[in-house]
Amino acid sequence: MPQSDHRKTVFSGIQPSGLVHIGNYLGAIRNWATMLDDYDCIFCVVDLHAMTVPYEPGEMMQRIRDALLVNMAAGLDPERCTLFVQSHVPEHAELAWILGTCAPFGELARMTQFKEKSEQHRDQVNCGLFSYPVLMAADILLYKAEVVPVGEDQSQHLEFAREVCRAFNSRFGETFPEPQPYHGPVMRLLGLEGKAKMSKSLNNYIALLAEPEEISSLLQTAATDPARVRRNDPGTPQLCNIHTMHLGFSSAEDLSWCEEGCRTAGIGCLECKERLAQNMIRELTPVREKYRSYASKPDYVEDVMRRGAAVCRERAERTMEEVRRKVGIR
Ligand code: AMP
Ligand code: TRP
Repeated sequence: MPQSDHRKTVFSGIQPSGLVHIGNYLGAIRNWATMLDDYDCIFCVVDLHAMTVPYEPGEMMQRIRDALLVNMAAGLDPERCTLFVQSHVPEHAELAWILGTCAPFGELARMTQFKEKSEQHRDQVNCGLFSYPVLMAADILLYKAEVVPVGEDQSQHLEFAREVCRAFNSRFGETFPEPQPYHGPVMRLLGLEGKAKMSKSLNNYIALLAEPEEISSLLQTAATDPARVRRNDPGTPQLCNIHTMHLGFSSAEDLSWCEEGCRTAGIGCLECKERLAQNMIRELTPVREKYRSYASKPDYVEDVMRRGAAVCRERAERTMEEVRRKVGIR
């Protein structure tokens, strides 16, 4: 990015989990796509983070490429933002080490994602999983990013990054701006059972690339406001995960139709879901088509990755020169 770019820098990341779902889309990617023209945007596929839980090395490259493809298909136009893979810029790991020396151990021990994931993988709890938020802080600070758009589940990590930022600045002198969170209208989408957040590991998701029939059938059995046992029981839209999806995918007109109909029992849940399915399919069909088109151009995707890494390496090196000097190792 040229030095004369006065736009604020945005940074965010997504794990190459092998599957992007509509929670990732509404909570993160779609908001990112709206920021491309007003901010200097950097988006990263965080492969080093993905190594903190058990995985198959032979599948990782495919997962990384796929994450990039899906994000591009979902609106991250590579000509209007920088897209890259975390491990292609070794400075992330270097800065993570240095920031680790400023990171309060007690705070890390309180992270709910660490507690959840170490519970899920009891026999493989590693130091990387514990210091995951330190690497995330390094991702952000390496580019002196000021705005970080994430879903609600990452708020605690971002708050931690802000704390590490303050700790570094006060020990070594003002270096990094304190990154601010940015949330869209849907901060947290629940899974199809309506209880836990939508996530790949809980198998309660609608994939962003799901076919229309799959979207309709998954919605048919999805949980709604538990108060609506019978067709003529009125409900509370704010307690219904289908309403959250309408917020993400439907027009203002359809949204008020759904809210009014739910409160007065004027419509049934099935009707409400059918309208949602139509709207979701309308929005996601072009994403699926774009995905196929990018997938047929592997050289272009390779080129996007390479260009992104080159831009980020240069920016990262600039920051690291300053950091190494400030901490006294140059
Ligand atoms: P991850 O797949 O965990 O790397 O998440 C990528 C982005 O999607 C992060 O900004 C998350 O906060 C967001 N995200 C993941 N799951 C959800 C969800 N169920 N609802 C809203 N945002 C989500
Ligand atoms: N931890 C984030 C997640 O799982 C991904 C991530 C890594 C990230 N580094 C980041 C998000 C920096 C924002 C900024 O969703």
